[in-house]
This record gives sequence, C-alpha cells and structure tokens, in this order.
Amino acid sequence: MLSGKEIVVGITGGIAAYKAAYIVSRLKKEKAVVTIVMTKMAQEFVTPLTFQSLSAKQVITDMVMTPKQWEIEHITLAKKADAVVIVPATANFINKCAAGIADDFLSTLVLATKAPILICPAMNTNMYENRVVQESMTKLRQRGFLFIEPETGRLACGDEGAGRLASEDKILTAIRETVMPNADYAGQTVLITAGPTQEPLDEIRYISNRSSGKMGYALAREAVSRGARVILVSGPVSLAPPKGVELLGVKTARQMYEKVMANFPSSDIVIASSAVGDFRPAKLVAGKIKKKAGLNLELVANPDILKELGKKKKKKQLLVGFAAESRDLEANAKAKLKNKNLDLIIANKIADSFAKDTNKVTLIFKNSRKEALPVLAKEKLAKVILDKILSLC
Ligand SMILES: Cc1cc2nc3c(=O)[nH]c(=O)nc-3n(C[C@H](O)[C@H](O)[C@H](O)COP(=O)(O)O)c2cc1C
Repeated sequence: MLSGKEIVVGITGGIAAYKAAYIVSRLKKEKAVVTIVMTKMAQEFVTPLTFQSLSAKQVITDMVMTPKQWEIEHITLAKKADAVVIVPATANFINKCAAGIADDFLSTLVLATKAPILICPAMNTNMYENRVVQESMTKLRQRGFLFIEPETGRLACGDEGAGRLASEDKILTAIRETVMPNADYAGQTVLITAGPTQEPLDEIRYISNRSSGKMGYALAREAVSRGARVILVSGPVSLAPPKGVELLGVKTARQMYEKVMANFPSSDIVIASSAVGDFRPAKLVAGKIKKKAGLNLELVANPDILKELGKKKKKKQLLVGFAAESRDLEANAKAKLKNKNLDLIIANKIADSFAKDTNKVTLIFKNSRKEALPVLAKEKLAKVILDKILSLC
C-alpha cells in the first residue's frame, strides 16, 4: 500500500528505539521509500548500521555530515516527505518540538516540513504523565501533530502504567491512514494499459497512432493514490510513470498482449485504455526500405487483447474498456461491450480525447445503463471512472 511513499522515520533516544527496526522493516516490505534520521542519544541504543541495512540507505545521524556521506539536505527531505514518523518519541523530543527548538537534524526537519507528523511516545509512566509533557502534547495536537497513544502495561524499567510504545500494527495502520486517507482500493490489483503501440516496418519505421497515454497514466496515478497495486502496461509515451506503479514498457501489440496475459490472473480489475494497433506489417524488413515509386504494404491482424481477456475473465474480475470512435459512437461501444464481455465501456469520440488533456465520455454499463459526463480534465475523469468501477465491485 505504501509503494513509492516517502516516509521519514525519526528515532530518538529511548529504550524502545530497537522497535523502530521492525517498523522500518515493514515499511520496506510495503515498498515505501524510507529515510532514517537518528538523534545522537538514539545512536547509544541502536547503531545506525542496523537501520542502514534495513533501509538500504545512509542513515542521517548529524546536522553536519560530510557531503561524501550526505546527499540529502534537511529542507529537501522535509519537502519530499509524505509523512514524518517519530518512533519512539522521547519526552525530551516532544518538549523540544512543542517549544520549536531546532538544535539537531530531526528537530530542524520537524520545523521545516509540511508533511503530516506522527509521534509515537514511549517513556516511563511518571514522565508520560508529567504536566510539562502533557502540555507539550496538547500544544502539538492543536498544531496538527498526530499522536499514536502509548499502551499501558509493564515498562522496561519495571513500572506498570502508560508509556509503552504502541504496537507495530497500530503504528503501521496510522501511517497508512495518514499517507493514504482515501484508500478505498486497498487490496485490489489493477492492471491498466496505456498509450499507443508501434508496429515496425523496417529497422527505423513503424505504424502507430496519436494516443498520448494521458488517460491511462491518470487512471494509474489515481488508483495508486487510493491504495491499489497498479501494474501499468504502457506503450511508448513521453510521460513520467506515476510514483508507486509497476511499469511494464512495451512497443508492439504482441508485446502488450504477452504482458497483459501474464498479469491477468493476479488482477482484480483491468482497465484497457491503450490504443492497440489492430494491424501490423506482415513481414519486418531488415535494414531500411529503399525509396521507390510506390510500396504495397501487406498487413495482418494483431491479437485482440480485450477479446481474449473477456473470454478468460473469472467471475470476480472486472473488465473495463475504452471505445474511441469517429462515428456511431454509442452503437459501436455497445457492440464492443457485448462482444468482448466487458463490465463497463467508456465511449469517447476520437476528436474529444486523443492527445488531449480533457475528455468527454459516456459510460455504458453491462446492464445497459448509460451515463454521459461533461468535458472533464483527464485527472478528474480518472477519479470518476474509479468511483464507478468501485461501485461495480
Ligand atoms: C537507559 C536509558 C533509557 C531511556 N529511556 C527513555 C525512554 O524510554 N523515553 C524517554 O523519553 N527518555 C528515555 N531516556 C532519556 C533520554 O535518552 C534523554 O532524555 C535524552 O536526552 C533524549 O535525547 P533525544 O530526545 O535527543 O533522543 C533514557 C535514557 C537512558 C540512559
């Protein structure tokens, strides 16, 4: 779920510092990009080497590190973080944050970031109940800091009471909910195809189309942000892949067919938004076709990816296609929906959609229900389409 999310884990000098290792390990398993910052006192409890190994990254241990070791400035890190998690948070650190002190890397980062900050306090009960600490926590809550309350039980010092670090599961859940407040696609694998295909004629020429991939990439970005695992099978486009997607780049329709079929069994939802070439040259000419008075090209049909998916579709899988037409839009879209055993088809006119930032579509569902949408930015349309798909799940 946290794939591609930038999580900064700040470790302060408490006895529970070793527990941060489990949190980091689980964040890495969820494919988060984890950067560790340790206070000086934290390094007395656990070595940076442990966290360096777990995060596969240099641990930030000092405000002033030599450039050879340190490529990340506190401001850069503060800006790119999706969340900063202080685990464990000492009484000292909580008080420092409340007072706005910035005398080491971690406290400076806390002041510099606009990302959500989660504080996981862990300390002796008397320290936790101390008025100064309680007042600091109240102040920080009012400033928008999120607290993952400590548990009550036996503490490392032998005392019983509040102050034991919250469980790993509680901390992980809080991180997920903070980074992805709208994770209604959590647990779903969404396979998306995007962009054009290129069918080679000779070593330098190909037949292709004007698809930009913008719709598919917007859908992929939206699905990832809502907690889905997204496999994006993309033809050649000039777009940066959204953070957190598993990108499988292809050129030809046959390559797209292979990648889609290989990933179909593990997918819950397929959204086919690519403009797959229907035909390819019957033979690939070695080298370059020389200039001459004319040239007859023999074309053969490419595999029909959607049709194959429709045949193989299991009961629990949802199949969504696009129909780009220049005329008879609705009739053609309805026929495609039926022929390819789709659950939903998104019909658009070529003039409204190809290589544009906006699109005007009509959604046609399996039960013949129709919904015409106004012109929408592709990012906004991706949201609407994913809402509709979820209502079918
Ligand atoms: C053995 C030992 C255990 C400690 N455990 C805690 C703790 O669990 N929670 C806490 O708030 N402080 C604890 N402290 C005190 C902090 O280490 C101390 O306040 C330190 O200044 C914190 O520095 P930092 O907040 O910059 O990491 C402990 C100190 C020692 C020596």
